[in-house]
Amino acid sequence: MVLVCGLPGSGKSRFAAEFFADSGRDRVNRKEIHRLLYEMIHFGKKWSETEFDELDDFLVKHVERKIIEHLLQNKQKVLVDNTSVSASSRKTYLGIAHQMHKTIGVIFLQTPPLKCMERNRGREDPVPERVISYLAAAIDLPTVQEGFREVLVLKGY
Ligand SMILES: Nc1ncnc2c1ncn2[C@@H]1O[C@H](COP(=O)(O)OP(=O)(O)OP(=O)(O)O)[C@@H](O)[C@H]1O
Ligand SMILES: [Mg+2]
Repeated sequence: MVLVCGLPGSGKSRFAAEFFADSGRDRVNRKEIHRLLYEMIHFGKKWSETEFDELDDFLVKHVERKIIEHLLQNKQKVLVDNTSVSASSRKTYLGIAHQMHKTIGVIFLQTPPLKCMERNRGREDPVPERVISYLAAAIDLPTVQEGFREVLVLKGY
């Protein structure tokens, strides 16, 4: 499993598409699972980053876990594209990999928060800026001590 993490707007999804689209890995993105579930449950009503959303985070994480486990069980390599800026938020993925006897590495896009905000403003459906500030304060850069086989931190991406 490869984890691509960083602040919203840091460029994870673009990075993943640029470097991993032809890698043979399958991509899993929690935000997109959230959007799909929301729109299914609400008869197609569009989900927005800014809208108050009552969808249970537990359900989203459960579905994400099941997808990852299913893919790994079928010997599929997986790329997880999720913010996961704190060590605690990465624990779930380390747990799944460990439990399934798979190796796990992490690529952290250490894009400056102001750059993330700038890129975010140019998006069709921007993330509220306070979310970026909040997560910027919660960043723990990943380490091998956390349980990753390899760690790559891309500064100023
Ligand atoms: N290296 C880059 N140079 C210029 N623009 C970029 C770069 N990387 C990403 N962007 C642009 O910044 C915006 C955010 O990028 P992207 O969607 O990949 O972020 P993300 O980390 O996946 O965010 P989120 O966590 O919200 O999904 C997009 O419009 C993207 O095209
Ligand atoms: Mg993304």
